[in-house]
Amino acid sequence: MNIHRLPDPAAVGRAAADLVDAAVLDRGERVVGLATGSSPLETYAELVRRHGRDPHSPYRSVDAYLLDEYVGLPVGHPERYAAVIRREFTDAMGVAPHRVHGPDADAPDLDEASRAYDAAIERAGGVGMQLLGLGSDGHIAFNAPGTPFDAGTHVATLSESTRRDNARFFGGDVASVPRTALSQGIATILRARSIVVIATGARKADVVGRLLSSEPTEALPATALLRHPGTVLLIDDAAAAHL
Ligand code: GLP
Repeated sequence: MNIHRLPDPAAVGRAAADLVDAAVLDRGERVVGLATGSSPLETYAELVRRHGRDPHSPYRSVDAYLLDEYVGLPVGHPERYAAVIRREFTDAMGVAPHRVHGPDADAPDLDEASRAYDAAIERAGGVGMQLLGLGSDGHIAFNAPGTPFDAGTHVATLSESTRRDNARFFGGDVASVPRTALSQGIATILRARSIVVIATGARKADVVGRLLSSEPTEALPATALLRHPGTVLLIDDAAAAHL
């Protein structure tokens, strides 16, 4: 894993956008993996500034695969991740809705839907560039501490701390945050050819410090990335406070 420290979230967003551009524009990657949450927002805004108005942008023909989707939110709910990513990024980039894919959290058989999602990513050629945020307990996507590194997409139970963290997207009401989600597994994520992990702000200083002083361990899911040769961790000064 390569680590780059930058002064602030805007600089991290520009550096992440440079890496995404290198994958899509220079290397011709056609499948991007997108994360929700606040960490990639500066990156998305920067990419929209650079390419959003270009009718010939290569981004218009990428396929985007989401990391995860809540189970149990009604169709049309604004916090469904498929809706969030369209609102925050793909619509402004001119990516057609049918090119934005997520695990089918409405399926009657969620295990089958999980297997189908991994198979769909493989059929698309695998993720060329994956963006990731870090949960404060070290989770990536919704892989909570203790999730086996060899798991594919699966039904994930959200920890109480993750539900508290995400309550801010549900008007501060923890009870409204779903208890389960379909999440890409660590094994799914590690198949991406390149990965950019974004961690900014003092809220992430503790988990960044733990990640960079640890060996790979299922107790801290993000440590699965330490031995992925194509992973870059971008942090700002505030998130680097414990290094
Ligand atoms: C959520 C998401 C993750 C995200 C993480 C960090 O639980 N499932 O994909 O990376 O939290 O969120 P944030 O970027 O808002 O700090």
